[in-house]
Amino acid sequence: MPVISFANAKGGAGKTTAALLLATEVAERGKSVTIFDADPQKWISTWADLPGRPGNIQVISQIIPASITEQIMDAAAQTDYVIIDLEGTENLIVANALSVSDLVVIPIQGSSMDARGGAKILTLIKKLEKIVRHDIKHCVVLTRTNAAVTTRALKAVQEFLAVNGIDVLLTPIVERAAYRDLFEFGGGLRAQNPKTVTNLGKAKENAVMFSAEVLERAQVTPRRRWYDVFKRAS
Ligand SMILES: Nc1ncnc2c1ncn2[C@@H]1O[C@H](COP(=O)(O)OP(=O)(O)OP(=O)(O)O)[C@@H](O)[C@H]1O
Ligand SMILES: [Mg+2]
Repeated sequence: MPVISFANAKGGAGKTTAALLLATEVAERGKSVTIFDADPQKWISTWADLPGRPGNIQVISQIIPASITEQIMDAAAQTDYVIIDLEGTENLIVANALSVSDLVVIPIQGSSMDARGGAKILTLIKKLEKIVRHDIKHCVVLTRTNAAVTTRALKAVQEFLAVNGIDVLLTPIVERAAYRDLFEFGGGLRAQNPKTVTNLGKAKENAVMFSAEVLERAQVTPRRRWYDVFKRAS
């Protein structure tokens, strides 16, 4: 039932990768997932056509800007989790998706450009909160970090987030070949071959910890429960 969006106005921040990691982890836990592929590059739709897609993940590629909120709410009433992979910009689809999200995850790489793209989403969330008249829960996940080194740029981003009191996941998503391989070979991390994929065990561990932190934050608000009661009754 929770709706989780991945947004950053800067392209290439790691939204699609993080969205797919979460979706495959949730599916691994036996839950049903609907992914809205609102990324014009359609990487997740392409992934869904590869062999190995878990049967409890469905991907919606056809998104109608004017009715995306209804599409999302319908999916939320029917599946355990809705995950939305958004375009790296600010547009009507992004605003509408954020306004009905239980949690917005903002992936940020260790660069000031990514941090500025993330800040644009934070500003948009503030505006939307006034319109929808409730808080929109959000957090940042640092992406493509180096397992061994913290760069100066990453430290600067961490300081910026701390100064602004932004909730940052304790688990960053590390740069791993295994995460790129998903889009090449299909399926989830468990379907990958440990003999050919380097550090697959560490990649799995990282994805599990990242997903656990996101799911903990993505609890459904009473507002949504009322919506579902209304939907079932109508
Ligand atoms: N943790 C990671 N490890 C390895 N490669 C990664 C990781 N995260 C992202 N990448 C790579 O970085 C590139 C951009 O990532 P991704 O497509 O997930 O970003 P995005 O924010 O969805 O981009 P866009 O704004 O264009 O939709 C891709 O080539 C992806 O494979
Ligand atoms: Mg993307």
